[in-house]
Amino acid sequence: MPALAGMKRQGKPITALTAYDYATSRLVDEAGIDMILVGDSLAMVVLGHDNTLAVTVDEMLHHTRAVRRAVRRALVVADMPFGSYHGSLAEGVANAVRFIKEAGAEAVKIEGPRVELVRALAEAEIPVVGHLGLTPQSVHKMGGYRVQAKTTETALQLRSNAEALAEAGAGAIVLEGVPREVAALITADLEIPTIGIGAGPECDGQILVFHDILNMTFAPHAKFVRQYADVSAVIREAVEQYREDVEHRAFPSDEESYHLPAAVRDAVETAEAPAVAGIRQV
Ligand code: KIV
Repeated sequence: MPALAGMKRQGKPITALTAYDYATSRLVDEAGIDMILVGDSLAMVVLGHDNTLAVTVDEMLHHTRAVRRAVRRALVVADMPFGSYHGSLAEGVANAVRFIKEAGAEAVKIEGPRVELVRALAEAEIPVVGHLGLTPQSVHKMGGYRVQAKTTETALQLRSNAEALAEAGAGAIVLEGVPREVAALITADLEIPTIGIGAGPECDGQILVFHDILNMTFAPHAKFVRQYADVSAVIREAVEQYREDVEHRAFPSDEESYHLPAAVRDAVETAEAPAVAGIRQV
């Protein structure tokens, strides 16, 4: 986390992406991304739920461990799932400890202006990323996924929430689904970095969902998503080609098969099959 603050001081944009498994995290890390978030968006893009609410601590731990095994360079941040920090502070801290201790995360992310929890986590030596604006775990409270902080009152509230999280010890704040102008003001206010998703270019860094940038979500994209490749098309084409090859006996070829040494082959082909114990030969 100090490295991200250093990047803000140097005016270097922070790159962040979600990832949820060994292979893709390894690719993301090797591509030089600064921060990998094991986001609770995995509930939707990996597990097929309608929203992020159903994913459990154990599922998040399982995926965070896989990401940890892959990543050498990027900061690994684990999202705390809905319900895992909404009770007592002690329960929130205990669940956060699991992500650090059992899964190897270097920081946790929590949604909303939970200032006292951020303070408790910071006191427990757990680096914490805040998440304000459109917070998907509040989907029912917000009445859907809507851009937040569009009025004077809500924009000022967001600004003071961000200041309060920073003062309580957050190491960075994700700003999601807020007007560019509001994100720019907060970014200028804070010493800690802001990482935007649908929050405009003035944020100190940007984060997107891995499956969104590769067209692997089966859903229309939000306005802020830029699609960098059509991996769905690549996978579909490859899988269809494989199916056709098997159906037409074009796979496997002789080169893709193992062979007996010639002498063994001849002996096997000319020998009588041995009697199988327990089976009466007629
Ligand atoms: O879970 C997630 O993917 C996130 C990002 C959208 C920031 O929280």
